[in-house]
Amino acid sequence: MVMAPLTRQRASIGNVPNKMMVEYYRQRASAGLIISEGSQISRQGYGYYDAPGIHTQEQIKGWKKVTRAVHRENGRIFLQLWHVGRHTHPYYLHDGQFPVAPSAIKEKGHIRVPDGKLDTVVPHALSREEIRQVIEDYHQATRNAKEAGFNGVEIHGANGYLIDQFLQNGTNKRQDEYGGDYKNRCRFMREVVEGVCSAWDANHVGIRLSPSSLHGDMRDTNPRELFTHAIKALNQYELAYLHLVEPLTNVSELPNYVAEVAKYFRPFYHGTLISCGNYDPESAEKAIAEGITDLIAFGRLFLANPDLPERVQKNAPLNEWDENTFYGGNEKGYTDYPFLKKDKGENLNIRYCCKT
Ligand SMILES: Cc1cc2nc3c(=O)[nH]c(=O)nc-3n(C[C@H](O)[C@H](O)[C@H](O)COP(=O)(O)O)c2cc1C
Repeated sequence: MVMAPLTRQRASIGNVPNKMMVEYYRQRASAGLIISEGSQISRQGYGYYDAPGIHTQEQIKGWKKVTRAVHRENGRIFLQLWHVGRHTHPYYLHDGQFPVAPSAIKEKGHIRVPDGKLDTVVPHALSREEIRQVIEDYHQATRNAKEAGFNGVEIHGANGYLIDQFLQNGTNKRQDEYGGDYKNRCRFMREVVEGVCSAWDANHVGIRLSPSSLHGDMRDTNPRELFTHAIKALNQYELAYLHLVEPLTNVSELPNYVAEVAKYFRPFYHGTLISCGNYDPESAEKAIAEGITDLIAFGRLFLANPDLPERVQKNAPLNEWDENTFYGGNEKGYTDYPFLKKDKGENLNIRYCCKT
């Protein structure tokens, strides 16, 4: 049972992990593996307020406290490396800089800021030299994660952010070796993997992909072909795992889209596979028994149930999640979801009562 990456937007000034985050991750240390919320590899990669980073000394120091607390509870934790690409706004960037992307194509929609929403802008298409700098940022962020005591890193290649923007031809119209056919569009992903693996052995590195996610206004004319190639290309790196996200929307009407992601792509990947998206304990058990995946990542269920493995083992009722407290805020809906056993949560000043 893996804890899926969950952005909670509760970091302190400077995007520094804080005490509240230490407690949140400590509470969930019984997961087979925790994958942290997405964490920015550089200033350029931010698109969400109060999301934590992994590019300053203060951030490394903050994360050290998180990893120590998780390890004291015998847990394991990977850091998710995040660059949002075009999904941001000059509001979040230095000196009014523009978001970066493979091509100057605006995302339909808006960007959330603390007091509302801003219209998206046309991003700046990265030059080859700028791409090299981004790869270097991934490399450095991986070294920082290692220094911060993580057990490994997960490259966020899913959900419409920078790597996904390079992969899919709705967002990548480049004429150079990073654009064009699906092989070229996989080049950036491969270079990121190589940059990360030059900072840490491949068995400490995972990658997340979402072949059927439309999040972030994403489209590809043939995601089936593209992701088959991308996944086959990942075999050569012998990574810790490949993490695939199931679609949360119905894609069965869209040509060349895959409705059951792990089931379809399993045969193409030779290593460990994690599947995530809409699982409950029963469907998770079934997917593993059928050989569709090796591990299941739970997102919202782990968010609301710090002791999820124990609850599943005992067939105990599960707390329901509260969407209103997903992003930003304080301890409410964060570290106050109740445990089955009182002693685990007794120092938590439980104020919030879940509808079990
Ligand atoms: C509050 C929230 C924050 C999320 N943040 C991230 C994130 O930082 N990185 C990521 O790859 N996915 C993120 N996701 C997606 C989840 O990892 C997961 O794929 C999704 O919740 C579906 O799994 P579930 O049905 O078990 O919740 C987030 C989802 C939620 C609900």
